[in-house]
Amino acid sequence: MTASVLILNGPNLNLLGTREPDIYGAETLADIEAACRTHGGNLGLDVDFRQSNTEGEIVEWIQAARGSATAIIINAGAYTHTSVAILDALLAVDLPVMEVHLSNIYQRDEFRHHSYISKAATGVICGLGSQGYLLALDAVAQRLDQANN
Ligand code: DQA
Repeated sequence: MTASVLILNGPNLNLLGTREPDIYGAETLADIEAACRTHGGNLGLDVDFRQSNTEGEIVEWIQAARGSATAIIINAGAYTHTSVAILDALLAVDLPVMEVHLSNIYQRDEFRHHSYISKAATGVICGLGSQGYLLALDAVAQRLDQANN
């Protein structure tokens, strides 16, 4: 059975391409999704790629991942810095979690330096743009390989 990776994107990431391109780059979320699907396919991973501007919807997707996904890659956007609810959902499902940010949050406003998500994260990648998502997929694939050998 092909392992399925749930890739979740939080608020305003649907605006990538036009949103503060000096910080987030010119790629759209659809470009990132396509790159993740191709890279995931090469690694033998099924990619379920989603975006929501609503905290509750993200919580529900995380809850539903229990039993259907093998790992979660999440860029929670601004909810990273505010959401105990998303943290609790990630802790509850007990899956490997890779936290990704396009920008280097430690070079930015002080309120972006704290992530609630990190407490549930197996690994954190930030500042590498869309490459961060692909590196997170690599990390998931490698962990699955190790678990199966
Ligand atoms: C972000 C960083 C967050 O601080 C911000 O609110 C975002 C995007 C990133 O990918 O760099 O929406 O998660």
